Amino acid sequence: MKVITAEPTGLCFGVTRAIKTMEEALISNGRIFCIGSPIHNPQEVKRLENLGLVVVSDDDKVPPGEAVFVRAHGISPDVHRRLMDKNVRIIDGTCPFVRKAQKMAEQLSREGYFLLVLGDEYHPEIQGILGYVEGPYRVISQESDLKAIDKIDKIGIISQTTQQESTLKDIAYNAVGIAREIRVSNTICRATVERQEAVRRLAGSVDGIVVIGGHNSANTAKLFRIAQESGTPALWVEEAHQLDRGWLSGKATIGIAAGASTPDWLIKQLQQAIL
Ligand code: F3S
Repeated sequence: MKVITAEPTGLCFGVTRAIKTMEEALISNGRIFCIGSPIHNPQEVKRLENLGLVVVSDDDKVPPGEAVFVRAHGISPDVHRRLMDKNVRIIDGTCPFVRKAQKMAEQLSREGYFLLVLGDEYHPEIQGILGYVEGPYRVISQESDLKAIDKIDKIGIISQTTQQESTLKDIAYNAVGIAREIRVSNTICRATVERQEAVRRLAGSVDGIVVIGGHNSANTAKLFRIAQESGTPALWVEEAHQLDRGWLSGKATIGIAAGASTPDWLIKQLQQAIL
């Protein structure tokens, strides 16, 4: 049987960097707290917990004097300050692309722009970004949300890193009708889009696609949906041992795609299990 792995697939640059930073810190520190899960993959979280990671729901659950890891989504200046007040050692795994969005939020709002933030208001990345805003703002998810906004002199527009560029373009285009001056900073990271395009390309050249990733991972769910919509038979597993051998039979070429939070070691196990 032939196996083709989508390219690119699996961990994005920001999560790879964050996990590496965390591993190094766990080796030297022994125990590290993280506010929220550092990655949407239960197997990888378990592996990190075995090395000493402690996942807590909130910054007030981090005991004074401990070490805390900031995941790729970043945190707001308020949370940072509260941790510093507790004399906590901060290990920063904020993705540089998220950091750019935080800086743009701060800069545009300081320069007097009414800030429009494209994204999901309750997502931790947006919560962190909003902490940098120093003036009025609105979080929106689509172009039609602009209808609820009165005419404004200056509008600054930024986005959550995982949003679609087409939505950002629609918003920027239609904002012309409500502002005299508009500044758009494209803070979208292409990692998610590139992984989705890779699945579409792969679908045409294989007899079946196995998508590997946490069942709690939204981007893995999206990859699975794309694979299903392509018409190529698709299967979603979290680990290689969940593979249904009966599903493989009669298929000469199998494609593998992995969510942006699936570590390489899980992809390798799957490749070996299929061959
Ligand atoms: Fe960073 Fe993009 Fe990944 S923002 S965490 S590289 S999806």
